[in-house]
Amino acid sequence: MSARRKEQRSLTSDGDSRNRDAAGQPAPAELASSDPDTRGLWEAEPVVEEPSARGFTQNMIGVSPRMQRIFRLIAKVAPTESTVLITGESGTGKEMVATSIHLQSRRAHRPLIIVNAAAIPESLFESELFGHVRGAFTGAVADRLGLLRQADGGTLFLDEVAEMPLSVQAKLLRALQSGEVRPVGGAESTNVDVRVIAATNRDLARALAGGRLREDLYYRLSVFTIEMPPLRERREDIPVLANYFRQRYARRLQKSVERFTERAQFYLLRYDYPGNVRELENAIERAVTLAEHGEITHMDLPPAFREASVRMLPEGDAFPYRAEMSLSDLEAEHIRRALVHFAGNTTRTARSLGISRSTLWRKMKQYSL
Ligand SMILES: Nc1ncnc2c1ncn2[C@@H]1O[C@H](COP(=O)(O)OP(=O)(O)O)[C@@H](O)[C@H]1O
Ligand SMILES: [Mg+2]
Repeated sequence: MSARRKEQRSLTSDGDSRNRDAAGQPAPAELASSDPDTRGLWEAEPVVEEPSARGFTQNMIGVSPRMQRIFRLIAKVAPTESTVLITGESGTGKEMVATSIHLQSRRAHRPLIIVNAAAIPESLFESELFGHVRGAFTGAVADRLGLLRQADGGTLFLDEVAEMPLSVQAKLLRALQSGEVRPVGGAESTNVDVRVIAATNRDLARALAGGRLREDLYYRLSVFTIEMPPLRERREDIPVLANYFRQRYARRLQKSVERFTERAQFYLLRYDYPGNVRELENAIERAVTLAEHGEITHMDLPPAFREASVRMLPEGDAFPYRAEMSLSDLEAEHIRRALVHFAGNTTRTARSLGISRSTLWRKMKQYSL
């Protein structure tokens, strides 16, 4: 009981009872907003990537150590001419990183051409990339420059690179090595100066083993690789991203949406985001549209966010001390609370619970947290 009292006190900003209901519970709204650890993340101004010396910025958000490291990597590799391979699940920000590298490079004033290899039919791929001369094939009614030459002086972002036809992979490698492109049906090669940034959401080891990605091209592209972590492995970024998108869509929809309820924060933090930042962004856009009374509640979030946690969550926002609760229910709930309190930071959560990080991970798995 005394631990319980202490917790309540620490959750109330000034120790008075104005914000408590009749049962002495802090009002739900106070739980998050007056808690120092959570407040830091839910209410801080978005931390955006440092603008480059050229003044371009992508507004990439990230406070997690892994994203901070990626920002440093971007700043280091951008000014070089190195090809870069970006790997990571869909929606983790690969295209954003590529754009950021381009904008921070000396090619920033030249074109950035974005190609999605999965979207180009195999028969057209070569001419899309290298261009063609008039009459090269049926339908080639005029000369075509091709994307590599369009990107001359700039950057070509080749998304889903493992989806490229093998014959085009070989030709691309030659073009990268020689700095020359020859259009389909053409006799002459032209010099091009293009920096290639490639991305894939595939398991590259498998693409290589399965023969879908040429090894020589892979080595050429992966001089420098950046691995984008899934959002569920950097949960500290969720509050800042959520706030950033809330502000952005509120502005766009000309709507005043000032905050998330504590329960909405809770659901946002513990969801596993198979679609990563893109999924979070879409969820917030939807929530801002639905929000009433200036706040986003858990009911404004997509059903998937609620389903994931409905199993053990009691009614209401208060900490669920109930007589019929088993010890493991209580443990699961307490760990969940601690994770929310520390915004998903497992190191700090484990320390506060007095257990090792590996024990915490095991319990999170056991309780599907
Ligand atoms: N760190 C981030 N900060 C802000 N927005 C992000 C971040 N990462 C991703 N996004 C947003 O999420 C969406 C998906 O990002 P994108 O770069 O297209 O991912 P990918 O290419 O890996 O599928 C975009 O709308 C992008 O603006
Ligand atoms: Mg993409």
